[in-house]
Amino acid sequence: MMAKQRHQVDPETCKGDGICADICPENVLEMVDGKAAAMEGRLEACIMCGQCVAVCPTESLQMPELPTENFQELARVPFGYREFFDFLKLRRSVRVFKDQPVERELTGKILKAAATAPMGFPPHSTEVLVIDRREELEYLLKELVKEYTFMVKGFSNPLGRVMIRLSVGAENYQVLKDYILDVARYANEAYHRDGSDKYMYNAPMLMLFHGNRRAISYEENAHLVCHHAMLAALSLGLGTTIIGLIPPIVDRSKVLRKRYSIPKENKVMTSLILGHPKYRYKKSIHRDLAGVKTI
Ligand SMILES: Cc1cc2nc3c(=O)[nH]c(=O)nc-3n(C[C@H](O)[C@H](O)[C@H](O)COP(=O)(O)O)c2cc1C
Repeated sequence: MMAKQRHQVDPETCKGDGICADICPENVLEMVDGKAAAMEGRLEACIMCGQCVAVCPTESLQMPELPTENFQELARVPFGYREFFDFLKLRRSVRVFKDQPVERELTGKILKAAATAPMGFPPHSTEVLVIDRREELEYLLKELVKEYTFMVKGFSNPLGRVMIRLSVGAENYQVLKDYILDVARYANEAYHRDGSDKYMYNAPMLMLFHGNRRAISYEENAHLVCHHAMLAALSLGLGTTIIGLIPPIVDRSKVLRKRYSIPKENKVMTSLILGHPKYRYKKSIHRDLAGVKTI
């Protein structure tokens, strides 16, 4: 059987500069008689990253599986480190929003930018569910309160604690006990007191990031997509917060998975609330990493 023709080289324009071969992470391309050529034995190793096409100065290379319109002229970096750092400093977790929806046009821009995130191997394994209907967000809030009430109750008796530990494993049990329990207790009390939302902070939009468990690096991929979305939202004047309390609940809930049509093989990895921030921060905050060593 013929191997799939993934690379088409135009011998008329190929100058044989070898740049495509040099940049290919899988050594799929080589120079043969002064022209780029895909090596039979390496074809299956091609990860379809498209770097060879993107780098060719004479546009002599095409990959039929990657449409030409996927490749757009690149601008030079439009800012320096200083501007980039100033931009990053603007990002804070926003939990107070204006009573204003996130425009669909902005959502489209955010998702387009999010899709530029790297992934373990192309194509993307991450799927995004966007919830922006108030009734749908309220439904989810009720489910979160219900599930976390169940968890808090479980922690209140020895048998419940054993069951939780068996169900989530020792490491997650400790995280639940040390970090989540009090937060959930407080959020549930606030909800029962006056309907306050301490899970999603009444944000007008929630994005859920989930990915196929069988895809390589599906967890990291989802976090990177979420992070790109977060920065894109910031560039559009929106505020966001990553919400770690939501994914495990949605992931374990048959009702929510069905409601959101999340495929059986997908795991819900992370979530992001978005909205127009009610307040502007006037100061940045300096933080250091937990540690840095150079050897
Ligand atoms: C993985 C992850 C999970 C988070 N989960 C929550 C959450 O459930 N609720 C919340 O209010 N903030 C959550 N945050 C936001 C953090 O509290 C916030 O990033 C941190 O306090 C630093 O503040 P800053 O983002 O304003 O710089 C989460 C952040 C990350 C990275």
